[in-house]
Amino acid sequence: MQIDILSLFPEYFEGPFKVSILKKAQEKGLVNISLINIRDFGEGRWKKVDDRPYGGGPGMVLMPGPVTKAVRSVKKENTHVIYLSPQGKLLDVKTCQRLAAYPHLVCICGHYEGIDQRVIETQVDEEISIGNYILTNGCLASIVLVDAVARFIPGVLGNEDSLLDESFQEDGVCEGPCYTRPEVFEGKCVPKVLLSGNHAEARKWKEKVRKKQGALGGLSNNYLVEKEIQ
Ligand SMILES: C[S@@+](CC[C@H](N)C(=O)[O-])C[C@H]1O[C@@H](n2cnc3c(N)ncnc32)[C@H](O)[C@@H]1O
Repeated sequence: MQIDILSLFPEYFEGPFKVSILKKAQEKGLVNISLINIRDFGEGRWKKVDDRPYGGGPGMVLMPGPVTKAVRSVKKENTHVIYLSPQGKLLDVKTCQRLAAYPHLVCICGHYEGIDQRVIETQVDEEISIGNYILTNGCLASIVLVDAVARFIPGVLGNEDSLLDESFQEDGVCEGPCYTRPEVFEGKCVPKVLLSGNHAEARKWKEKVRKKQGALGGLSNNYLVEKEIQ
């Protein structure tokens, strides 16, 4: 998959895409991530990319010209263009799986007050939010999206079966607690069923915890493991 990320700060991405699973995915040729600086398409001597909002109000808006030129510089026939925006559809597992099937994604990272609405109307296929809060810009949102989508590209994780047990594969169901050595840590034991060597029983136990807990987080896991299920 080709992923082009359009932003004003390509340096934002230097860390996250150069380590661990995403680094390996790029080395294996499964994903190719290119960083495009919207400023390169800025107007005039000073490469201007933003201006004051019509109708008043605070902040600056990314002008339609530079953003449109940046999109057109990478857009092909089979490109899917995403604008990362708090006003978009909330990112979830199903969306990540769907996006992983595209051969070419373009992610537009907004800054300041966002991008001119006419770019959204003419260039963008979908708007995606990573949560109901406001980030200072869309770079972090793009990093989250690319990371979550890349896991669904065949070959990226190595062991695709592990995806099936992950949290949110089933609506409202999380994977549940996991343990490793030592058996006892600061007085807290690993549940006996996981130490028995009986993998069928261990699997059954995990399934029971998974189904019971919903998506309430680690503390609810503690409660279930200690009080109800052990
Ligand atoms: C400060 S925000 C603009 C917020 C906008 N004025 C609003 O209230 O909807 C600047 C940029 O950060 C990105 N951004 C902020 N929060 C986001 C979120 N929750 N999900 C995705 N992108 C986000 C978007 O690209 C946005 O254009």
